[in-house]
Amino acid sequence: MNIPLALAFFTTVAMAVISADQTSAPSLVTFIFGDSLTEVGNNNYLTYSLARSDFPFYGIDYIDQKPTGRFTNGRTIGDIISEKLRIPSPPPYLSLNPNDDLILKGVNYASGGAGILNTTGLYFIQRMSFDDQIDYFENTTKVIKAKIGEKAANNLLNEAIYFIGMGSNDYINNYLQPFLPDAQQYAPDEFLEVLNSKLAEQFTRLYLLGARKMIFHGLGPLGCIPSQRAKSSRSLCLHQVNEWVIQFNSKVQKLINVLNVKLKNAHLTFADTYQDVLDLIENPSKHGFKVSNTSCCNVDTTVGGLCLSNARICKNRHEYVFWDAFHPSDAANAVLANRFFSKMFVAPNGLMAFAPNHKG
Ligand SMILES: *[C@@H]1O[C@H](CO)[C@@H](O)[C@H](O)[C@H]1NC(C)=O
Ligand SMILES: *[C@@H]1O[C@H](CO)[C@@H](O)[C@H](O)[C@H]1NC(C)=O
Ligand SMILES: *[C@@H]1O[C@H](CO)[C@@H](O)[C@H](O)[C@H]1NC(C)=O
Repeated sequence: MNIPLALAFFTTVAMAVISADQTSAPSLVTFIFGDSLTEVGNNNYLTYSLARSDFPFYGIDYIDQKPTGRFTNGRTIGDIISEKLRIPSPPPYLSLNPNDDLILKGVNYASGGAGILNTTGLYFIQRMSFDDQIDYFENTTKVIKAKIGEKAANNLLNEAIYFIGMGSNDYINNYLQPFLPDAQQYAPDEFLEVLNSKLAEQFTRLYLLGARKMIFHGLGPLGCIPSQRAKSSRSLCLHQVNEWVIQFNSKVQKLINVLNVKLKNAHLTFADTYQDVLDLIENPSKHGFKVSNTSCCNVDTTVGGLCLSNARICKNRHEYVFWDAFHPSDAANAVLANRFFSKMFVAPNGLMAFAPNHKG
Protein backbone atom coordinates (compact mmCIF):
# COMPACT_ATOMS: atom_id res chain seq x y z
CA MET A 1 0.00 0.00 0.00
CA ASN A 2 1.38 3.40 -0.84
CA ILE A 3 1.79 6.18 1.73
CA PRO A 4 -0.94 8.66 0.65
CA LEU A 5 -3.51 5.88 0.80
CA ALA A 6 -2.33 4.89 4.27
CA LEU A 7 -2.59 8.47 5.47
CA ALA A 8 -6.08 8.85 4.07
CA PHE A 9 -7.05 5.68 5.87
CA PHE A 10 -5.53 6.74 9.18
CA THR A 11 -7.24 10.10 8.96
CA THR A 12 -10.70 8.73 8.31
CA VAL A 13 -10.29 6.20 11.11
CA ALA A 14 -9.06 8.93 13.42
CA MET A 15 -12.07 11.13 12.72
CA ALA A 16 -14.43 8.25 13.29
CA VAL A 17 -12.64 7.37 16.53
CA ILE A 18 -12.65 10.92 17.81
CA SER A 19 -16.30 11.42 16.96
CA ALA A 20 -17.07 8.20 18.86
CA ASP A 21 -16.71 10.20 22.06
CA GLN A 22 -19.11 12.98 21.13
CA THR A 23 -22.72 12.28 21.87
CA SER A 24 -24.98 12.42 18.81
CA ALA A 25 -22.05 12.20 16.38
CA PRO A 26 -22.00 8.89 14.51
CA SER A 27 -19.65 6.44 16.16
CA LEU A 28 -17.29 3.96 14.61
CA VAL A 29 -19.01 0.87 13.19
CA THR A 30 -17.04 -2.34 12.73
CA PHE A 31 -17.87 -5.58 10.93
CA ILE A 32 -15.74 -8.60 11.78
CA PHE A 33 -15.19 -11.64 9.54
CA GLY A 34 -13.04 -14.55 10.59
CA ASP A 35 -12.45 -17.91 12.20
CA SER A 36 -11.96 -19.11 15.77
CA LEU A 37 -9.36 -16.41 16.44
CA THR A 38 -12.14 -13.80 16.24
CA GLU A 39 -15.35 -15.73 16.90
CA VAL A 40 -17.47 -14.44 19.79
CA GLY A 41 -20.19 -17.10 19.76
CA ASN A 42 -21.80 -17.72 16.35
CA ASN A 43 -21.13 -21.46 16.46
CA ASN A 44 -23.13 -21.77 19.70
CA TYR A 45 -26.15 -21.33 17.44
CA LEU A 46 -25.09 -24.08 15.01
CA THR A 47 -26.56 -27.18 16.65
CA TYR A 48 -24.35 -29.74 14.94
CA SER A 49 -21.09 -27.79 14.81
CA LEU A 50 -18.12 -29.60 16.31
CA ALA A 51 -16.09 -26.35 16.29
CA ARG A 52 -17.32 -24.96 19.57
CA SER A 53 -16.00 -23.62 22.84
CA ASP A 54 -19.18 -23.04 24.86
CA PHE A 55 -17.94 -25.10 27.80
CA PRO A 56 -15.39 -24.68 30.62
CA PHE A 57 -12.48 -23.95 30.76
CA TYR A 58 -13.09 -21.54 27.88
CA GLY A 59 -13.86 -18.08 29.24
CA ILE A 60 -12.33 -18.77 32.65
CA ASP A 61 -10.76 -15.29 32.55
CA TYR A 62 -13.70 -13.63 30.78
CA ILE A 63 -16.54 -11.65 32.39
CA ASP A 64 -18.17 -13.84 35.10
CA GLN A 65 -15.67 -16.62 34.22
CA LYS A 66 -18.23 -17.83 31.67
CA PRO A 67 -17.68 -19.62 28.34
CA THR A 68 -19.12 -17.54 25.50
CA GLY A 69 -17.95 -19.29 22.37
CA ARG A 70 -14.64 -17.42 22.35
CA PHE A 71 -11.79 -19.85 21.70
CA THR A 72 -9.56 -18.58 24.48
CA ASN A 73 -9.53 -18.17 28.26
CA GLY A 74 -10.46 -14.49 28.02
CA ARG A 75 -10.73 -11.90 25.27
CA THR A 76 -10.08 -12.21 21.55
CA ILE A 77 -7.84 -9.72 19.75
CA GLY A 78 -11.04 -8.16 18.34
CA ASP A 79 -12.46 -7.62 21.84
CA ILE A 80 -9.29 -5.81 22.89
CA ILE A 81 -9.15 -3.68 19.73
CA SER A 82 -12.80 -2.71 20.37
CA GLU A 83 -11.91 -1.69 23.95
CA LYS A 84 -9.14 0.50 22.56
CA LEU A 85 -11.54 2.06 20.06
CA ARG A 86 -13.98 2.59 22.94
CA ILE A 87 -16.79 0.70 21.27
CA PRO A 88 -18.53 -2.50 22.41
CA SER A 89 -17.18 -5.66 20.80
CA PRO A 90 -19.80 -6.38 18.08
CA PRO A 91 -22.20 -9.24 18.92
CA PRO A 92 -22.33 -12.55 17.01
CA TYR A 93 -24.58 -12.31 13.94
CA LEU A 94 -26.56 -15.41 14.89
CA SER A 95 -27.38 -13.97 18.33
CA LEU A 96 -29.31 -11.10 16.74
CA ASN A 97 -32.86 -10.93 15.60
CA PRO A 98 -32.55 -10.11 11.85
CA ASN A 99 -34.24 -6.75 12.48
CA ASP A 100 -32.33 -5.82 15.63
CA ASP A 101 -31.25 -2.15 15.74
CA LEU A 102 -27.92 -3.35 17.14
CA ILE A 103 -26.80 -4.25 13.61
CA LEU A 104 -26.40 -0.50 12.99
CA LYS A 105 -23.47 -0.57 15.44
CA GLY A 106 -21.58 -3.48 13.92
CA VAL A 107 -21.73 -7.26 13.71
CA ASN A 108 -19.31 -10.15 14.19
CA TYR A 109 -19.72 -12.93 11.58
CA ALA A 110 -16.65 -14.96 12.62
CA SER A 111 -17.06 -18.70 12.97
CA GLY A 112 -14.63 -21.31 14.32
CA GLY A 113 -13.48 -23.73 11.63
CA ALA A 114 -14.22 -21.30 8.79
CA GLY A 115 -11.96 -20.70 5.86
CA ILE A 116 -11.58 -18.81 2.62
CA LEU A 117 -12.65 -22.00 0.87
CA ASN A 118 -16.06 -23.47 1.35
CA THR A 119 -14.66 -26.97 1.90
CA THR A 120 -12.30 -25.92 4.69
CA GLY A 121 -13.22 -27.35 8.10
CA LEU A 122 -15.64 -29.82 6.50
CA TYR A 123 -15.26 -32.27 9.40
CA PHE A 124 -16.67 -29.70 11.83
CA ILE A 125 -20.05 -30.42 10.14
CA GLN A 126 -21.27 -26.84 10.61
CA ARG A 127 -19.40 -23.53 10.43
CA MET A 128 -19.93 -20.31 8.50
CA SER A 129 -17.34 -20.15 5.71
CA PHE A 130 -16.14 -16.74 4.51
CA ASP A 131 -18.66 -17.03 1.64
CA ASP A 132 -21.45 -17.73 4.15
CA GLN A 133 -20.32 -14.78 6.27
CA ILE A 134 -20.48 -12.47 3.25
CA ASP A 135 -23.97 -13.84 2.44
CA TYR A 136 -25.07 -12.89 5.97
CA PHE A 137 -23.41 -9.50 5.66
CA GLU A 138 -25.35 -8.96 2.42
CA ASN A 139 -28.48 -9.67 4.42
CA THR A 140 -27.33 -7.13 7.00
CA THR A 141 -26.84 -4.45 4.32
CA LYS A 142 -30.45 -4.96 3.17
CA VAL A 143 -31.78 -4.63 6.71
CA ILE A 144 -29.70 -1.47 7.30
CA LYS A 145 -31.06 0.03 4.06
CA ALA A 146 -34.61 -0.77 5.11
CA LYS A 147 -34.01 0.86 8.50
CA ILE A 148 -32.22 4.13 7.65
CA GLY A 149 -32.64 4.52 3.90
CA GLU A 150 -30.33 3.86 0.98
CA LYS A 151 -28.21 7.00 1.26
CA ALA A 152 -27.48 6.87 5.01
CA ALA A 153 -26.93 3.12 4.73
CA ASN A 154 -24.36 3.53 1.96
CA ASN A 155 -22.61 6.14 4.06
CA LEU A 156 -22.57 3.88 7.12
CA LEU A 157 -21.24 0.96 5.05
CA ASN A 158 -18.55 3.08 3.36
CA GLU A 159 -17.34 4.55 6.66
CA ALA A 160 -17.35 1.32 8.67
CA ILE A 161 -14.15 -0.64 9.28
CA TYR A 162 -14.05 -4.27 8.20
CA PHE A 163 -11.69 -6.57 10.08
CA ILE A 164 -10.98 -9.78 8.18
CA GLY A 165 -8.91 -12.68 9.54
CA MET A 166 -9.09 -15.76 7.35
CA GLY A 167 -6.79 -18.45 5.98
CA SER A 168 -5.39 -20.28 9.04
CA ASN A 169 -7.99 -23.03 8.69
CA ASP A 170 -7.40 -23.34 4.95
CA TYR A 171 -4.01 -24.72 5.99
CA ILE A 172 -4.58 -26.27 9.44
CA ASN A 173 -7.99 -27.77 8.75
CA ASN A 174 -7.67 -28.38 5.06
CA TYR A 175 -4.37 -28.41 3.15
CA LEU A 176 -2.30 -29.85 6.02
CA GLN A 177 -4.69 -32.78 6.42
CA PRO A 178 -3.31 -35.40 4.02
CA PHE A 179 -6.58 -37.33 3.80
CA LEU A 180 -8.53 -34.35 2.39
CA PRO A 181 -8.87 -33.86 -1.39
CA ASP A 182 -7.19 -30.41 -1.56
CA ALA A 183 -3.96 -31.82 -0.11
CA GLN A 184 -3.94 -34.57 -2.74
CA GLN A 185 -5.06 -32.42 -5.63
CA TYR A 186 -2.83 -29.33 -5.40
CA ALA A 187 0.86 -28.53 -5.18
CA PRO A 188 1.52 -25.79 -2.56
CA ASP A 189 1.74 -22.98 -5.12
CA GLU A 190 -1.40 -24.17 -6.88
CA PHE A 191 -3.28 -24.23 -3.59
CA LEU A 192 -2.05 -20.72 -2.82
CA GLU A 193 -3.37 -19.58 -6.19
CA VAL A 194 -6.77 -21.14 -5.42
CA LEU A 195 -6.88 -19.25 -2.10
CA ASN A 196 -5.71 -16.02 -3.66
CA SER A 197 -8.25 -15.97 -6.48
CA LYS A 198 -11.07 -16.87 -4.09
CA LEU A 199 -9.97 -14.08 -1.75
CA ALA A 200 -9.89 -11.59 -4.65
CA GLU A 201 -13.50 -12.51 -5.39
CA GLN A 202 -14.47 -12.14 -1.70
CA PHE A 203 -12.80 -8.73 -1.23
CA THR A 204 -14.50 -7.54 -4.41
CA ARG A 205 -17.86 -8.79 -3.24
CA LEU A 206 -17.50 -6.94 0.07
CA TYR A 207 -16.51 -3.82 -1.88
CA LEU A 208 -19.61 -4.09 -4.08
CA LEU A 209 -21.71 -4.36 -0.92
CA GLY A 210 -20.27 -1.04 0.30
CA ALA A 211 -17.09 -1.97 2.20
CA ARG A 212 -14.22 0.45 1.63
CA LYS A 213 -11.94 0.32 4.71
CA MET A 214 -10.91 -3.30 5.02
CA ILE A 215 -8.08 -4.54 7.23
CA PHE A 216 -6.87 -8.05 6.44
CA HIS A 217 -5.12 -9.72 9.35
CA GLY A 218 -2.21 -11.74 7.88
CA LEU A 219 -1.42 -15.23 9.12
CA GLY A 220 0.88 -15.96 12.04
CA PRO A 221 3.61 -18.64 12.04
CA LEU A 222 1.22 -21.60 12.02
CA GLY A 223 4.16 -24.04 12.03
CA CYS A 224 4.85 -22.99 15.63
CA ILE A 225 1.42 -23.54 17.18
CA PRO A 226 1.33 -26.50 19.60
CA SER A 227 -0.83 -28.67 17.28
CA GLN A 228 1.83 -28.42 14.56
CA ARG A 229 4.84 -28.77 16.88
CA ALA A 230 3.29 -32.03 18.04
CA LYS A 231 4.10 -33.41 14.57
CA SER A 232 7.83 -32.84 15.12
CA SER A 233 9.69 -35.46 17.16
CA ARG A 234 11.55 -32.71 19.07
CA SER A 235 8.52 -30.46 19.30
CA LEU A 236 10.07 -27.83 17.02
CA CYS A 237 8.34 -25.35 14.69
CA LEU A 238 7.52 -26.81 11.27
CA HIS A 239 9.64 -24.79 8.89
CA GLN A 240 7.75 -25.86 5.76
CA VAL A 241 4.41 -24.71 7.17
CA ASN A 242 5.87 -21.32 8.12
CA GLU A 243 7.28 -20.98 4.60
CA TRP A 244 3.81 -21.52 3.12
CA VAL A 245 2.37 -18.93 5.49
CA ILE A 246 5.02 -16.38 4.48
CA GLN A 247 4.18 -17.02 0.80
CA PHE A 248 0.46 -16.65 1.54
CA ASN A 249 1.01 -13.34 3.35
CA SER A 250 3.18 -11.99 0.57
CA LYS A 251 0.69 -12.97 -2.12
CA VAL A 252 -2.28 -11.44 -0.28
CA GLN A 253 -0.29 -8.25 0.27
CA LYS A 254 0.26 -7.99 -3.50
CA LEU A 255 -3.40 -8.73 -4.17
CA ILE A 256 -4.39 -5.91 -1.82
CA ASN A 257 -2.07 -3.48 -3.63
CA VAL A 258 -3.70 -4.43 -6.93
CA LEU A 259 -7.25 -4.09 -5.57
CA ASN A 260 -6.48 -0.67 -4.09
CA VAL A 261 -5.68 0.53 -7.60
CA LYS A 262 -8.51 -1.31 -9.30
CA LEU A 263 -11.41 -0.55 -6.92
CA LYS A 264 -12.22 3.15 -6.71
CA ASN A 265 -11.96 4.57 -3.15
CA ALA A 266 -11.04 1.19 -1.69
CA HIS A 267 -8.68 1.35 1.32
CA LEU A 268 -7.61 -2.21 1.91
CA THR A 269 -4.79 -2.69 4.40
CA PHE A 270 -2.68 -5.76 5.05
CA ALA A 271 -1.82 -6.08 8.74
CA ASP A 272 1.31 -8.20 8.91
CA THR A 273 1.40 -9.84 12.34
CA TYR A 274 3.74 -12.72 11.49
CA GLN A 275 6.88 -11.23 13.09
CA ASP A 276 5.01 -10.09 16.20
CA VAL A 277 3.62 -13.57 16.84
CA LEU A 278 6.99 -15.19 16.08
CA ASP A 279 8.73 -12.80 18.49
CA LEU A 280 6.26 -13.76 21.21
CA ILE A 281 7.02 -17.44 20.56
CA GLU A 282 10.79 -17.09 20.25
CA ASN A 283 11.30 -14.57 23.05
CA PRO A 284 8.45 -15.14 25.51
CA SER A 285 10.29 -13.64 28.50
CA LYS A 286 10.74 -10.35 26.62
CA HIS A 287 6.94 -9.96 26.83
CA GLY A 288 6.42 -11.34 30.34
CA PHE A 289 5.67 -14.95 29.35
CA LYS A 290 7.37 -18.14 30.50
CA VAL A 291 6.09 -20.82 28.08
CA SER A 292 5.48 -20.67 24.35
CA ASN A 293 6.18 -24.22 23.14
CA THR A 294 3.17 -25.90 24.71
CA SER A 295 -0.35 -24.88 25.72
CA CYS A 296 -1.73 -23.94 29.12
CA CYS A 297 -4.30 -26.75 28.74
CA ASN A 298 -1.51 -29.18 27.94
CA VAL A 299 -3.27 -30.54 24.86
CA ASP A 300 -0.48 -30.80 22.31
CA THR A 301 -2.12 -33.05 19.83
CA THR A 302 -3.00 -32.86 16.18
CA VAL A 303 -6.42 -34.42 16.80
CA GLY A 304 -8.70 -32.42 19.04
CA GLY A 305 -6.39 -29.95 20.72
CA LEU A 306 -9.22 -28.04 22.39
CA CYS A 307 -9.28 -27.40 26.13
CA LEU A 308 -11.97 -29.85 27.22
CA SER A 309 -13.57 -29.80 30.65
CA ASN A 310 -11.36 -32.67 31.82
CA ALA A 311 -8.10 -30.90 30.85
CA ARG A 312 -5.51 -30.08 33.49
CA ILE A 313 -4.97 -26.39 32.97
CA CYS A 314 -1.84 -24.52 34.01
CA LYS A 315 -1.83 -22.43 37.20
CA ASN A 316 -0.42 -19.17 35.83
CA ARG A 317 -2.39 -18.64 32.67
CA HIS A 318 -0.79 -15.27 31.93
CA GLU A 319 2.60 -17.00 31.63
CA TYR A 320 1.50 -19.05 28.59
CA VAL A 321 1.42 -17.74 25.03
CA PHE A 322 -0.98 -20.53 23.99
CA TRP A 323 -4.20 -21.43 25.71
CA ASP A 324 -4.98 -24.61 23.75
CA ALA A 325 -3.21 -26.31 20.84
CA PHE A 326 -4.38 -23.63 18.37
CA HIS A 327 -5.27 -20.40 20.10
CA PRO A 328 -3.34 -17.71 21.98
CA SER A 329 -4.16 -16.94 25.62
CA ASP A 330 -5.87 -13.73 26.69
CA ALA A 331 -2.47 -12.40 27.80
CA ALA A 332 -0.94 -13.12 24.38
CA ASN A 333 -3.94 -11.56 22.63
CA ALA A 334 -3.39 -8.41 24.69
CA VAL A 335 0.22 -8.13 23.51
CA LEU A 336 -0.77 -8.83 19.89
CA ALA A 337 -3.71 -6.41 19.96
CA ASN A 338 -1.39 -3.68 21.30
CA ARG A 339 1.02 -4.22 18.44
CA PHE A 340 -1.82 -4.36 15.91
CA PHE A 341 -3.44 -1.22 17.28
CA SER A 342 -0.25 0.80 17.31
CA LYS A 343 0.48 -0.20 13.70
CA MET A 344 -3.05 0.45 12.42
CA PHE A 345 -4.27 3.38 14.44
CA VAL A 346 -1.21 5.43 15.29
CA ALA A 347 0.31 7.94 12.90
CA PRO A 348 3.34 6.75 10.92
CA ASN A 349 5.50 9.34 12.74
CA GLY A 350 4.88 7.48 15.98
CA LEU A 351 2.72 10.14 17.64
CA MET A 352 -0.41 8.87 19.32
CA ALA A 353 -2.36 11.26 17.12
CA PHE A 354 -5.24 8.97 16.41
CA ALA A 355 -5.57 6.97 19.57
CA PRO A 356 -8.91 7.67 21.25
CA ASN A 357 -7.49 8.39 24.70
CA HIS A 358 -4.95 10.94 23.47
CA LYS A 359 -7.13 13.22 21.43
CA GLY A 360 -7.14 16.98 21.27
C1 LIG B 1 -20.58 -23.23 -0.23
O1 LIG B 1 -21.31 -23.95 0.73
C2 LIG B 1 -22.64 -23.53 0.88
C3 LIG B 1 -23.27 -24.34 1.98
O2 LIG B 1 -22.52 -24.23 3.15
C4 LIG B 1 -23.38 -23.68 -0.43
O3 LIG B 1 -24.68 -23.18 -0.29
C5 LIG B 1 -22.65 -22.92 -1.52
O4 LIG B 1 -23.25 -23.14 -2.76
C6 LIG B 1 -21.21 -23.33 -1.59
N1 LIG B 1 -20.51 -22.49 -2.53
C7 LIG B 1 -19.65 -22.96 -3.39
C8 LIG B 1 -19.01 -21.97 -4.30
O5 LIG B 1 -19.36 -24.13 -3.44
C1 LIG C 1 -31.98 -12.40 6.27
O1 LIG C 1 -32.82 -11.31 6.57
C2 LIG C 1 -34.19 -11.60 6.61
C3 LIG C 1 -34.94 -10.34 6.96
O2 LIG C 1 -34.69 -9.38 5.98
C4 LIG C 1 -34.48 -12.69 7.65
O3 LIG C 1 -35.82 -13.02 7.62
C5 LIG C 1 -33.61 -13.89 7.37
O4 LIG C 1 -33.77 -14.86 8.40
C6 LIG C 1 -32.18 -13.51 7.27
N1 LIG C 1 -31.35 -14.67 6.95
C7 LIG C 1 -30.38 -15.10 7.71
C8 LIG C 1 -29.68 -16.31 7.23
O5 LIG C 1 -30.03 -14.54 8.71
C1 LIG D 1 9.57 -26.35 26.09
O1 LIG D 1 10.81 -25.73 26.31
C2 LIG D 1 11.41 -26.05 27.55
C3 LIG D 1 12.72 -25.29 27.65
O2 LIG D 1 12.53 -23.93 27.44
C4 LIG D 1 11.66 -27.53 27.65
O3 LIG D 1 12.19 -27.85 28.91
C5 LIG D 1 10.36 -28.28 27.43
O4 LIG D 1 10.61 -29.67 27.39
C6 LIG D 1 9.70 -27.85 26.14
N1 LIG D 1 8.38 -28.47 26.07
C7 LIG D 1 7.98 -29.12 24.99
C8 LIG D 1 6.62 -29.67 25.01
O5 LIG D 1 8.70 -29.25 24.02
